[in-house]
Amino acid sequence: MTKSRSLRIVMAVAVSAALAACSSSATPVPATAKVYTYKDMVVGFIQTGSESGWRAANTSSFNEEAKTDGITLKFTDSQNKIENQITAFNTYIADPAVNVIVLAAVDVTGYDNVLKAAKAAGKVVVIEDRRIDSPSTLYYTYIGSDFDLEGNKGAAAMCTLLTGMSGANVVEIGGDQGASAAIDRAKGFREKDSACGINILDSQYAAAWDPTVGKSIMDADLKKYAGKIQGVYAHNDELAIAAIQSIDAAGLKAGTDIKVVGFDATADGFKYMITGELGADIECNPLLAPQVYKAALDALNGVTGQPAWVPSQEGQFAASQGAQALQDILKTRKY
Ligand code: AHR
Repeated sequence: MTKSRSLRIVMAVAVSAALAACSSSATPVPATAKVYTYKDMVVGFIQTGSESGWRAANTSSFNEEAKTDGITLKFTDSQNKIENQITAFNTYIADPAVNVIVLAAVDVTGYDNVLKAAKAAGKVVVIEDRRIDSPSTLYYTYIGSDFDLEGNKGAAAMCTLLTGMSGANVVEIGGDQGASAAIDRAKGFREKDSACGINILDSQYAAAWDPTVGKSIMDADLKKYAGKIQGVYAHNDELAIAAIQSIDAAGLKAGTDIKVVGFDATADGFKYMITGELGADIECNPLLAPQVYKAALDALNGVTGQPAWVPSQEGQFAASQGAQALQDILKTRKY
């Protein structure tokens, strides 16, 4: 068969196929479901509050990404009160314009009823930052840190800082006792602190992660356990810095007399690692908006198979990396 003949046959088949697709006898094309884009998204974002540098970076991530994507964002600062979060949930559930609700939970419990109401109202719900104990069937997915693993890292970092001091005494300054970040960082530390025989001398929690409460806790610990404290395990950078300020005010040298471990790896945390006063900083990633908005868009478009939890990617840093190296890293960071 000549080439021109076979080419004619191929073209004839292609044309007949195209005609068949257009003819009235072709199978009717079903009406396609609406395909949502970011511009269709109206997000009710229920933020915990503005308690830390981490929280400011998390809020910025949602504001900036919404602008980039053309998402309409409605924002609630809950002032670290769960009752404000419940009220905000009900407001967004009742708002016909809102099709997505994002929650950064103040507490780990107390959301079942509003989640059920949001589901019944056909709202997409994504949990960001902190896990909650509600059934994962009540929301699309949870995007946030493995705080237990962070606590494991914190214990290992403390053991490294206390090398050669088996059985060292450590005091804990926790975040808000109802928050999964505090609950799990405490749990994770206790899972691994026996590796170097750490003795937790005392453990107190700063309500709403308030650094002034954190400093009062450290002031009291230094008086009660004068000369017996070798380490401080603080659940975020603001609480670690408050402890450092208390240690310094007591005439001691943070980083030398008493080792300090914090969480978040914010710019302020880096500053205190560069001076050597903060011995280690376990990163907690606040830049979650791109992942959260993508998950919400998938939910609106009926994408299934989303995992119940998408753990954040995050690392850790230490004063032992050296001031110059830490300064170079800090220049590359967004918060
Ligand atoms: O959930 C993350 C925690 O919340 C951060 O470590 C802390 O700074 C914030 O309050």
